[in-house]
Amino acid sequence: MSLSDLPAPLRAAQPFFWPHPQRRSAAQVLADSPVGRADVEAAVANWRRFGPLLARLFPHELGPDGRIDSPLLRQGDDHGRALWVKADHQLPITACIKARGGVYEVLCHAEQLALDAGLLAPDGNRALLADAPARALFARHRVLVGSTGNLGYSVGVMARALGLGVAVHMSHDAQAWKKDRLRAVGATVVEHAGDYAQAVAGARALAAADPAAYFIDDEDSLLLFLGYAAAAWDLAPQLAAQGLAPTAARPLRVYLPCGVGGAPGGVAFGLKCLWGDAVQVVFVEPVAAPCFLLRLATGDDAVSVYDIGLSNHTVADGLAVPRASARVAALAGPLVDAVVTVSDADLLRMLRFQHEAHGLQLEPSAAAGFVAHEMLAGPWAEAVAAWCPAPVVPLVWTTGGQGLPVEVFRALLSGPLASRLPPPATA
Ligand SMILES: Cc1ncc(COP(=O)(O)O)c(C=O)c1O
Repeated sequence: MSLSDLPAPLRAAQPFFWPHPQRRSAAQVLADSPVGRADVEAAVANWRRFGPLLARLFPHELGPDGRIDSPLLRQGDDHGRALWVKADHQLPITACIKARGGVYEVLCHAEQLALDAGLLAPDGNRALLADAPARALFARHRVLVGSTGNLGYSVGVMARALGLGVAVHMSHDAQAWKKDRLRAVGATVVEHAGDYAQAVAGARALAAADPAAYFIDDEDSLLLFLGYAAAAWDLAPQLAAQGLAPTAARPLRVYLPCGVGGAPGGVAFGLKCLWGDAVQVVFVEPVAAPCFLLRLATGDDAVSVYDIGLSNHTVADGLAVPRASARVAALAGPLVDAVVTVSDADLLRMLRFQHEAHGLQLEPSAAAGFVAHEMLAGPWAEAVAAWCPAPVVPLVWTTGGQGLPVEVFRALLSGPLASRLPPPATA
């Protein structure tokens, strides 16, 4: 589709429901994919092997198995229908979904450094990576990353816990408290005058010129992707415990907030590996930054939201990304069933509602799935019924927020934009 054929509401930054016309069956996509279920299973096994190391490094945050996972919560509406919430906004250590990728890639990198230096045997206990010889090795290396904030924090916390140096490149308008939080864990924050994509490009260029540097590429990393994909294996026993294993007769519809596409793409890939098309994946993007929708609609890896006159300015800072990851679009794009775009006003209204009605502390990006669910159940219900007549089990993935400083959260609840909104409706 050419840019001029794109739906008018999309170009006008209005909320929109877009069933993906080029979506393909999971079986077909996975059969043709260079990455498959075995790769995700290997990542799941790696995560387990890193458990003792994580438990040693974060004894107050994690249990003895060192697992980084979140609960599955249930919200009900007036009609007794359940809405399920995968609560990554309260993921231990970093309180955001980006830890699933960022922590994983730092661990894999540290493991490789130790293997190469002969400090770790291939079948050795990964907890050794917290010993003094490994720390002395890591102190001579550093990690670079470009981030809207949460990937940088996840990478920063993990790298510093191991003794690696870390520099996080961020756009000038990224949240100040996210930069402060990074500096507090000992990361260097490099501010760029431009947007997120320019910050990533800056970090990439610097890392290429520094042999002691390792670049974690939010736009193009298979390790990040696999770290996120492993989340499906965390969700599986939680769904089974509720008798909700997805089936063709009762599919699971998962709402995933999308920035560059890595986290939602990886999670979607893992879900489709486990349950095929019995899981329906809906990506959710801000009206000002629907970069993944644009990439899917045009098939153009270079297309950006600026090309259709959108600003990339949104209160959902984690989703303020102008151009989608080409790698994720290739791996997971055909698995995306639909994309929904949501307004900042709705994100803030929902953030407030989720706090008042359910006690959740979300950042604006993390409220996106709830808004999309509300749109599909309300204004778009007819179009949705035509698209998918089967009753579905809805699940919203909340992707960040528990780590927000109190005053930042309070400002979101009562700030100038929020105070112009109508009072939240009750469920
Ligand atoms: C809170 C939150 N949700 C969702 C996302 C989207 O992840 P991705 O950029 O990998 O699509 C981000 C990205 O930073 C985030 O911070």
